[in-house]
Amino acid sequence: MDFNITPDQLDLRTMVQEFVAKEITPFALEMDKEGKMYPGLLQKIDEVGLLNLVVPEEYDGPGLDTITIALLYEELGKGCAGVATSIAANALAGYPVLLLGTEEQKEKFFSVINEGKLAAFALTEPGAGSDAGAVATTAVKDGDDYILNGTKCFITNAALADIFIIFANTRKSAGIRGLTAFIVKRGTPGFTVGKEEEKMGIRASNTCELILEDVRIPAANRIGREGEGFKIAMKTLDAARPLVGAVSVGIAQSAFDLCVKYAKERKQFGKPIGSFQLVQAMIADMAMQIEASRLLVYKACWLKDQGLPYTKESALAKCYASDSAMKVTTDAVQVMGGYGYSKEYMAEKYMRDAKIMQIYEGTNQIQRLVIANNILY
Ligand code: CAA
Repeated sequence: MDFNITPDQLDLRTMVQEFVAKEITPFALEMDKEGKMYPGLLQKIDEVGLLNLVVPEEYDGPGLDTITIALLYEELGKGCAGVATSIAANALAGYPVLLLGTEEQKEKFFSVINEGKLAAFALTEPGAGSDAGAVATTAVKDGDDYILNGTKCFITNAALADIFIIFANTRKSAGIRGLTAFIVKRGTPGFTVGKEEEKMGIRASNTCELILEDVRIPAANRIGREGEGFKIAMKTLDAARPLVGAVSVGIAQSAFDLCVKYAKERKQFGKPIGSFQLVQAMIADMAMQIEASRLLVYKACWLKDQGLPYTKESALAKCYASDSAMKVTTDAVQVMGGYGYSKEYMAEKYMRDAKIMQIYEGTNQIQRLVIANNILY
């Protein structure tokens, strides 16, 4: 076991820390209020190379291992989980292409990401959330094309992305064995972006509905074979969930740092509140939860990088880190009292941002099912 950060990882992390401190954190409350990133931020994010983190070197990307990506996602989560979510959607959409894309698909897809564009992963539908296999969007073969019809919802980056991974059913009667993944470009006739969600947290990220009406795409845009979509989706989520864990650790760490500072400065009954044992107990619990979460994230990423099975560890990391982020941020608000509850400070934003980490990329109830199934069967 080696817990040392390599010099390269340290350099990259320092670069991202500095970027986040200068370009993201000072604007996080304003972006949260406005419900979007400030103009020009995406370009700055691209300039420092944060949009194509999962792209391998052979496709002109940085070719990073998963632990390094997790280190950087934690830093992004510390600054603003909404911005981190938007960036992370590029990884989520990139994994299906990495997993089963053809050379041509990889070249084309990653060249879009390398140009600083956003991508989106569209699996969820009004009737297919936790039950991901219940996708009702259809893809019907027509000569050398497929015609897609359906509605996707809660799609991160929907209004901003240039390229989409869309899951549709090519054989409705086959259920999950009919699920198939496709690459769809923005601007394809019949492809429109629907209503934008007004969200509780991660408000700097964009989340909308997608409507597909007779969207004709070449069969060459199908990833893998017909019916391989469910496994592609599951393997993608295995890869992406530890990164949700990493962002959760970032949120929790920021909330923790803020409340520790407050506990040292805030005086009541003539003493800093950090000198009271009930506050100390909360701070100690937070520290334990953050550290344990971080280690679970590293372990899942390490297993992935070694090519070892990691479905269970991925779910463990996502579930534990996001549950911990919810607990830590709630307790940070509690320690800070009225100041924690006020929109003038970041504590309440961290708490709202933490909530989605327990929901997206598979609710934590689903993560517990995945963990238990991997233990029992
Ligand atoms: N890797 C490879 N294959 C897998 C797999 C994995 N991790 N998990 C399941 N499979 C395979 C199984 O082996 C099985 O294959 P066979 O039939 O050939 O044996 C097949 O898939 C079906 O498996 P299950 O019977 O376990 O499937 P299920 O219908 O019971 O569903 C589930 C399993 C875990 C509940 C799954 O539906 C799931 O993960 N649901 C949550 C969906 C989700 O995470 N959505 C998030 C959307 S993306 C998002 O949130 C993005 C965003 O905006 C930021």
